[in-house]
Amino acid sequence: MNNLAEELAELSLLSIRRHPLCLEAVDLPKLVERFKESLERIQTCGFQHIVRGKRGQIEAAALVTFEEPSFTGAACWTGRLHIHPDAPESALAAAVALADFARTVEQDFDASMSYGYRDVAIRLAQGGLFVHAVTFLGRVDEALAKLRADAIPADFDRWGLTCAPFCQCEDKDAVVALHGSAFEERYGWFLTKPDFLVKLREDLSKENAKTESHFVIKNKRQVVGYFAGGVDPTPQWGRRAGMHFVLAHEWQGKGLSRVMYRMLLEAHARNDARVFFGGTSQPPVLKLARQLGRVPTDWIFGRKTHFPLDYFL
Ligand SMILES: CC(C)(COP(=O)(O)OP(=O)(O)OC[C@H]1O[C@@H](n2cnc3c(N)ncnc32)[C@H](O)[C@@H]1OP(=O)(O)O)[C@@H](O)C(=O)NCCC(=O)NCCS
Repeated sequence: MNNLAEELAELSLLSIRRHPLCLEAVDLPKLVERFKESLERIQTCGFQHIVRGKRGQIEAAALVTFEEPSFTGAACWTGRLHIHPDAPESALAAAVALADFARTVEQDFDASMSYGYRDVAIRLAQGGLFVHAVTFLGRVDEALAKLRADAIPADFDRWGLTCAPFCQCEDKDAVVALHGSAFEERYGWFLTKPDFLVKLREDLSKENAKTESHFVIKNKRQVVGYFAGGVDPTPQWGRRAGMHFVLAHEWQGKGLSRVMYRMLLEAHARNDARVFFGGTSQPPVLKLARQLGRVPTDWIFGRKTHFPLDYFL
């Protein structure tokens, strides 16, 4: 299994190294370790399809694990397509295998692949798996410099709103309720499901919800916004921050996003984050990603989308 994990890590690096924010010195042993863990999970419950070239080298791989519960709060098959940029036929064969597998399972299914392999995405769509979101990576220092140069304030005074660190005992119920009312299914198939709200409540009850970067926006005493994120070390990008935003309907589209980005990025910078990461299909977030110099990393696909592929290009 070690050899296979090493081969898969090398294959994945071919796509990762094309991204401008890939570290010069990728922590290869750590990356191999992650593949090893994934292969172990697949042996318990999962799916793998490996396509090899004439000389026996891996040219594409579809790996799927079963997560229960998953990031959605429910059971979900979670997959990744790894492809060699110069082996298009093998990539298409792995895509067909992945889509065929997805049709054999009943539970939710979500997967990812490196951004921009249009032919592979089209083949996946023919098999019933559609791109529904794109993930971006940006430099924390570069985005912050842009926001500061635009004189984006670090407060919500001009809207008459206040912002404070999230307080578990005071804000938890309101933040869960806000998610229940503010998200739309087309911008995240799992975000409107009851299981997601149950998981969110659990996550907000954990110890780190008190200490990481979690903020609420209030209109007088009413919670009208929540934004948060943590920082994790990764082998290929260095310290990577996550971003999560939600505003009540009546406060969307009024320009609050840049203030939330500035405050969260400042918190992430204090926490030594090198890059920030997130997935979306939201038009304002796509627009801000371009403005802040973020570069796409992955396509996320599942059984349903509300957008044509070109929307994400
Ligand atoms: C997504 C969200 C965080 C964006 O924050 P926001 O404060 O509503 O966004 P803004 O009003 O600051 O808009 C940002 C930019 O996108 C533009 N924009 C807003 N809505 C847009 C739309 N539907 N299409 C295209 N551009 C849009 C704005 O004009 C603005 O650009 P500009 O300053 O150059 O004019 C917020 O709408 C929200 O919480 N939505 C519900 C929850 C959600 O989907 N969260 C995000 C998950 S990734």
